Amino acid sequence: MKKITHAVIPVAGFGTRMLPLSKAVPKELLPLGNRPAIHYVVEEAIAAGIKHIVLVGHAQKSAIENYFDINAELDNQLRHKGKDELADSLNWLPEDVTISMIRQGKALGLGHAVLAARPIIGDHDFAVLLPDVVLNPFITDMHKDNLAFMLAEFANSDHSQILVDKVADSEVHKYGIAKLSEGDSSNSVSGINKQTDTNASFKVAGFVEKPSLVDAPSRLAVVGRYVFSNKIFDYLENTTASVGGEIQLTDAIDALISQHGVDVTTMVGDSYDAGDMRSYMQAFIYFAERQLAADE
Ligand code: G1P
Repeated sequence: MKKITHAVIPVAGFGTRMLPLSKAVPKELLPLGNRPAIHYVVEEAIAAGIKHIVLVGHAQKSAIENYFDINAELDNQLRHKGKDELADSLNWLPEDVTISMIRQGKALGLGHAVLAARPIIGDHDFAVLLPDVVLNPFITDMHKDNLAFMLAEFANSDHSQILVDKVADSEVHKYGIAKLSEGDSSNSVSGINKQTDTNASFKVAGFVEKPSLVDAPSRLAVVGRYVFSNKIFDYLENTTASVGGEIQLTDAIDALISQHGVDVTTMVGDSYDAGDMRSYMQAFIYFAERQLAADE
């Protein structure tokens, strides 16, 4: 059994789709209800058993690192005022979990950001969680189950796992889209039927990054959760810029597929795009309503 304990969360994006909100505040720290969006993503990783999280950022993102650090002065002040419960609630990160930050240097794309974590990840296999995507934490267990399922599949099969979910025709151009294997009965252009209660994992033939609708090989979109064999780093080293002039993670996955096993895992539950203004606002309303209802 190959147990994965490391995860990479790329946080170096400028968040141009979230301006002006993201001008002075990293988009990952914008609230969803009463927590910053990245809080749920880190919680999700920890719930699935991750112990070391590497944030890949840049100079303007140090507030994210501070959010996960202990603020000793604030802690002292709260306790001095008898607000121990509030102080305790800020120290929620388990003691056996480490969060490190490394800088990307140049913003050359998602693939380049993941590669920037190599000095800390070393020889470990690892997960990648994109912080723009927040899985719904209010559905029992689903918050941790998708990633836990992918980690277990990787442990059993040694195949890297890419989480996918069915999207509408109007959405395919925003995502990496899976090309299912020849002969797979589910290999239809409309994609598989969405399973609502169980994850499923099966072989994938490749991915197309942000295709137009006519070029989309299915409707199964990469959600932003990956479990990788360490070998992905070697492929990332050799990946050159493509779609959008960026070094795409999707291209390195395609290269990995030609030599090693890569499966897609279908997602259970639903996800929110916190990196796009319209869906962020919808997500905020949903999270706030759920939390207000829980407080009543
Ligand atoms: C990235 C990936 C894409 C994936 C998406 C999920 O794109 O490149 O394959 O589907 O995240 O959110 P981005 O949204 O960073 O442009």
